[in-house]
Amino acid sequence: MTAAAPWRATVLSLFPGLFPGPLGASVIGKALTSGTWALEAIDPRGYASDRHKTVDDVPFGGGPGMVLRCDVIDRALAAIPDLQSKEAQKDAAKVDGRRPALYLSARGVPLTQARVRALAAGPGVVLLCGRYEGIDQRAVEAWDLEEVSLGDVVLAGGEIPAMMLIEACVRLLPGVLGAEASLGEESYEQGLLEYPHYTRPAHWVDQNGQARDVPAVLLSGHHAEIAAWRQGESEATTRRRRPDLWRRYRAAKSKQGA
Ligand SMILES: C[S@@+](CC[C@H](N)C(=O)[O-])C[C@H]1O[C@@H](n2cnc3c(N)ncnc32)[C@H](O)[C@@H]1O
Repeated sequence: MTAAAPWRATVLSLFPGLFPGPLGASVIGKALTSGTWALEAIDPRGYASDRHKTVDDVPFGGGPGMVLRCDVIDRALAAIPDLQSKEAQKDAAKVDGRRPALYLSARGVPLTQARVRALAAGPGVVLLCGRYEGIDQRAVEAWDLEEVSLGDVVLAGGEIPAMMLIEACVRLLPGVLGAEASLGEESYEQGLLEYPHYTRPAHWVDQNGQARDVPAVLLSGHHAEIAAWRQGESEATTRRRRPDLWRRYRAAKSKQGA
């Protein structure tokens, strides 16, 4: 019997030495060592054409900073043999067992847990990390790169967002986490943020002398009441913190009821 091919992440980064970094720790690192997933970090500098290994240049139209050159990024992507075709990227029916290429970008579409699930279910990902002002847009268009953002903040480079994306996918791979049954209850999985968690001690007094007891229902052993309390907490927290998610959740619920 042949072992299943590992889920593969190829990262294009000017700082390949940053990898695996935190991805080498804990359950994600164990899964890397055991071969559940594989990681390769490639420096686009290796695809520069001059002897100085130049990868960037000043932006046309002026302005601060530098831009990563499209010809260098193009050669680096062309050297990856199992990159998904443009057609397959656009049409799920044409998925060809190859990997999609994503550009981590502050201008990108926000990454969602649904997209992470789809990426984790495929053969892996090719991730392009920007630096400086980002990459020349022509490379993004020529390769139809999916631009994804890991939050409404601007970081110095795409490496930490790439690690976030990889970690989010790898923890969904079969066997990586022990209690897989609990995955479905986590934040975003049902369209809601998760309920709060508590553990021992049941009775605790904080530094200001305030007693903080665990909600009594969690000690009751009454499963239906615990489930109802958790659902209520999830809904209240989502409504308060994420009105966007709450609106979507309510709309989906009323559609199901219709
Ligand atoms: C300094 S940022 C460039 C920001 C860009 N000039 C802008 O305003 O959108 C350099 C690189 O960091 C990465 N990056 C920064 N913020 C990000 C975010 N929120 N999500 C994903 N990648 C991000 C991207 O790869 C980007 O090319």
